[in-house]
Amino acid sequence: MFDYNELMQMAKDASKNAYCKYSNFKVGACVLTDSGKTFKGCNFENSSYGLAICAERCAVGAAIVNGETKINAIAIYSPNTDNCYPCGACRQVLSEFKNGDIDVITEENGKLKITKLSYLLPESFSL
Ligand code: THU
Repeated sequence: MFDYNELMQMAKDASKNAYCKYSNFKVGACVLTDSGKTFKGCNFENSSYGLAICAERCAVGAAIVNGETKINAIAIYSPNTDNCYPCGACRQVLSEFKNGDIDVITEENGKLKITKLSYLLPESFSL
């Protein structure tokens, strides 16, 4: 099994590259796919504020473009807050690529916390 501490470290590394000059709120994420590969993402904002892309969706996109569509886990980190959970839009996007269920890994007081996506987004929409 992949070490979730390592996944969190990659999310932390990714948060350093966040482009967030409007909110100053840095977020990094790293997804773990079925094949054991990892893909990092960070949030990137725009002068047209509504176009901001979250770290989680950036990481999901990186997985998709590399042909990986089955996500087992995602670590999310922000130096600006404890327990940085994915926003509602990102929960829905993650749900599209779930492999069974997804472990959502956050950090609370320096300790990993694992929450199932199905708990964060019950009764999700799918076609
Ligand atoms: N943000 C994320 O990257 N992930 C989330 O789950 C919530 C919010 C980003 C978007 C924006 O760049 C900044 O955090 C403030 O909302």
